[in-house]
Amino acid sequence: MRLSSGVPARVVVLVSGTGTNLAALLEASEDPAYGVNVVAVGADRKDIPALARAQAAGVSTFVLRVADFETREDWDAAFADAVAGHEPDLVVSAGFMKLAGSGFLARFPNRYLNTHPALLPAFPGMHGARDALAHGVKVSGCTVFVVDGGVDTGPIVAQAAVPVLDGDDEASLHERIKVEERRVLVDVVGRMAREGWTVTGRRVTIP
Ligand code: GAR
Repeated sequence: MRLSSGVPARVVVLVSGTGTNLAALLEASEDPAYGVNVVAVGADRKDIPALARAQAAGVSTFVLRVADFETREDWDAAFADAVAGHEPDLVVSAGFMKLAGSGFLARFPNRYLNTHPALLPAFPGMHGARDALAHGVKVSGCTVFVVDGGVDTGPIVAQAAVPVLDGDDEASLHERIKVEERRVLVDVVGRMAREGWTVTGRRVTIP
């Protein structure tokens, strides 16, 4: 994927909650040298801190709730239309707690990223930190990956490891992971925006 050089990449960020990853991307985007313009933030629910962060930064937002559509496929198509309307070079799930359907994925092939609070392929799903802790691992971390049709199964772009400490509970481990996660996500999105990227089978390379 090669983007127009010298023009900031158009990025749409999808959120469902706190939005600290979004905040990190917004902060990085303030520097023109970062090469990213967060053109919109989309959510599947109202009244979340992530939307407030986007609005405070003057970024356009949209909310489409599954409950307001007759079928999940209708929601998926409408959500894809809303994202596509912002003509993104890259779509980034940052704590977006919905699985995109095949219709959505087909609209943004190899340009839809997600971030997960575990070292995939270990502990996919909604509770990466909780599941790693329950398993008793000594190291966990975060993974940024290109979304495919599975649950957290797509080609991996970057990972970082984080120690699990004896006194950890889910919240303390997740917070330690999120510090690394924000760093990795900001780094990866910026490099992809500036350098482009290639997905060959399961290998993702940023030149
Ligand atoms: C992040 O840790 C992200 O990896 C996780 O939600 C958190 C959102 O934090 N996502 C998932 O677990 C998806 N399976 P944030 O709202 O503060 O960015």
